[in-house]
Amino acid sequence: MKCTVCRGPAVIDLRRHNANFCADHFLRFCRDQVAKAIDRHEMLAPGDRVLVAVSGGKDSLALWDLLLELGYDAEGMTIGLGIGDYSEASTAAAVAFAEGRGLALHRIDLRGDYGYDIPTAAAVTRRVPCSSCGMSKRHLIDKAALDGGFDVVATGHNLDDEAAVLLGNVLHWQTEYLGRQAPVLPARDGFPRKVKPLVRLGERETAAYCVVRGIDYIVDECPMAEGNRHLRYKEALNAIEAGSPGTKHAFYFEFLDKAADRFRPEAAEAQEGLQACRSCGAPTTGELCAFCRLVDRVADAEPVPVELLRKGAGRNGRSGRRADAATGARGDT
Ligand code: AMP
Ligand code: FES
Ligand code: ZN
Ligand code: ZN
Repeated sequence: MKCTVCRGPAVIDLRRHNANFCADHFLRFCRDQVAKAIDRHEMLAPGDRVLVAVSGGKDSLALWDLLLELGYDAEGMTIGLGIGDYSEASTAAAVAFAEGRGLALHRIDLRGDYGYDIPTAAAVTRRVPCSSCGMSKRHLIDKAALDGGFDVVATGHNLDDEAAVLLGNVLHWQTEYLGRQAPVLPARDGFPRKVKPLVRLGERETAAYCVVRGIDYIVDECPMAEGNRHLRYKEALNAIEAGSPGTKHAFYFEFLDKAADRFRPEAAEAQEGLQACRSCGAPTTGELCAFCRLVDRVADAEPVPVELLRKGAGRNGRSGRRADAATGARGDT
């Protein structure tokens, strides 16, 4: 297999692009794709202070590295979710990356800073873990960006993520979420600007990028997400992609070009009438925001170890968690 550009030995084949690349040209390809996404969707302006939300996985570490390579001023923030060894290893990967390069990493720990963790929140609320997890992440990422005076938050959502979220939103006709699914969310009262510069790269590519760049990332997926619908949608799209390379890209980008605008009014309507949370000031429809309500409810609860909640563990069957939280339909992290 030869590099399409230089005819040297290739390290990766990209069927979607009908190309093979050597290590150097693959890195260049990744940088070009990110630069193109930033440019086409007007994600970042020169001189912006960017806060990268870092999980310790391949996507967010590749993103941080790529933004620095492209010359952006990018600091990191990471949230310790308290999901046993998985969270410890995730935080350790983020810290090692930052320390190795002398970068600023803002750290938040759910248990230490807010008195709860995701397994306990899931057990107390009797909902799937991803529900309190996604909400906590959104709230704390937004807060870190606003408190730190950053111009924009960048997350590591890649093409596979966005296409799977789109499929979930379409299968359930979540029109409000469809109206909000975009690579850029502008700043609004109480919300920072949010961008997804990896939308043109798939997860196989971000993993390969980390390997070629020598970035140590946590390979394991979250143990609490095992078997959820979002992962099943990814598998379904991968099966289609294997037969018709490029389908995932077309599904997502043609949605943005041809359909997304049609759902905007519904998303805008859902965002009307927001007021400041009485406790933390974040925008909310009620008196207290969902994050403050969650903290009130779970902060004093007896900690629940992650093992009790893993798929197949006894508690899972009895917990009566609400299935609707697992539809896989989503707004945005
Ligand atoms: P996920 O929802 O886990 O697919 O993650 C999507 C994006 O959210 C990642 O690419 C990160 O940018 C961000 N993110 C996920 N987990 C964390 C975390 N523990 N701390 C900070 N950011 C995170
Ligand atoms: Fe949120 Fe797993 S990372 S539930
Ligand atoms: Zn080459
Ligand atoms: Zn609040």
